Amino acid sequence: MASLTVRQLDERLKQLLRLRAAKNGRSVEDEVRTILREAAEEPGPAQPAPVSPPTPAETAPAAATTKRVLLIISGGIAAYKSLDLIRRLKERGLAVRCIMTKAAEHFVTPLAAGALVGSRVFTDLFDPAHEFDVGHIRLARETDLIVVAPATADLMAKMAGGHADDLATAVLLATKAPILLAPAMNPAMWAHKATQRNLAQLVADGIKLVGPNEGEMAEARESGKGRMAEPLEIAAAVDKLLAAHLAPLPLTGKHVLITSGPTHEPIDPVRYIANRSSGKQGHAIAAAAAAAGADVTLVSGPVNLPDPIGVKTIHVESARDMLTAVERALPADVAIFAAAVADWRVANAGVQKLKKTAGQTTPALSLVENPDILSTIAHRRTQRPQLVIGFAAETENVIANAKAKLARKGCDWILANDVSPQTGIMGGDRNTIELVSADGVEPWPPQSKEDVAAMLIARIGAALSK
Ligand code: C5P
Repeated sequence: MASLTVRQLDERLKQLLRLRAAKNGRSVEDEVRTILREAAEEPGPAQPAPVSPPTPAETAPAAATTKRVLLIISGGIAAYKSLDLIRRLKERGLAVRCIMTKAAEHFVTPLAAGALVGSRVFTDLFDPAHEFDVGHIRLARETDLIVVAPATADLMAKMAGGHADDLATAVLLATKAPILLAPAMNPAMWAHKATQRNLAQLVADGIKLVGPNEGEMAEARESGKGRMAEPLEIAAAVDKLLAAHLAPLPLTGKHVLITSGPTHEPIDPVRYIANRSSGKQGHAIAAAAAAAGADVTLVSGPVNLPDPIGVKTIHVESARDMLTAVERALPADVAIFAAAVADWRVANAGVQKLKKTAGQTTPALSLVENPDILSTIAHRRTQRPQLVIGFAAETENVIANAKAKLARKGCDWILANDVSPQTGIMGGDRNTIELVSADGVEPWPPQSKEDVAAMLIARIGAALSK
């Protein structure tokens, strides 16, 4: 008898099979078996098996190849847009399940959502029938992503506090799947300190956000930040998160330590020596490392940038504080020293403000050398990170100086760049890097600091997997 595997079928056929299998709650193999059985039993030319409505199908997990999304609709006027979101998710071939909170039922009916999802909508934590066949723990487990749209201020507060007093919050607490929130609320509620506090907690817990957007509110004459993201925007965020979650991230399980920004070296309690570093490059690297799945510690000098999302950020002022924070953050798999650390500090910085007194001579500042953080870490006998990376900001002889620095500082890679004022790199948004290592010099194209960060993280991922 001829043998055929699903893998040999063309992509479109495979996709159709996956959809049918998901709708019928069967594995793809079982679906193929069912089709063949029905075809063999039917007299006359084989007819495609009808796609039966998924009556008890929602109780079975979707086929392994179909990505599963659990949509939680909470009670806000934007809930009507979630019906369109269901369509957008299903268009993508996703298997969608839906939970509605009690408050959501005031805005849309479970019947409407259920008709679009193609299966029953779950509403009650204590419904014996639901608990028997699906149960909140299974709802929490049998999904690749949970989307909360709209996410109300109340639901966000409950999540931030770890509450589990209804089906939606119990599932959100029990799940290990990534969670995407599409907040929607009145701008005053969004801006309220309590909501912002809860938001910061949720972001620190690794929860992802799409929106809210600025614009008109449902209430007359109200506008501002608080509109739920549009269904297509949410669907695009879903695509992105699913791709990141299902493909193994290159730095998952790695601890990456990064320094960024300038240092401030005190002259007295109110004056300091600083430099023009903005911290943009170091912060972009921290964000890219976090996006690549790493545990990231960012030790930042004083900058005018927000802490990157999902990154543990330690704020310091002086070079000595930076070294202490870096040493405390060890062990790390990778250390990237992007900070523009002051080479010198003022010896005996004044404890009191230096006074300008008529007739007295101008004070002379005497400088002493700061510790070299990169060199200290690269030369450690214990807990030396596997990959130690420095920057060489030069205004002349860029490559020669970078090569000398690589040897002197004992690091593995140097990212060399020309910071002469005409390049606009210092404080600017773009950077041109040459990667100097024992393997030679690799010129990178001029690109944004975010793209430099992404390229560096990709190189690190490749180096660690060798
Ligand atoms: O010697 P130079 O300052 O050019 O070296 C630059 C590299 O060394 C950067 O990676 C910078 O973060 C690091 N560095 C350091 N501590 C210092 C001086 C520089 O970590 N005191």
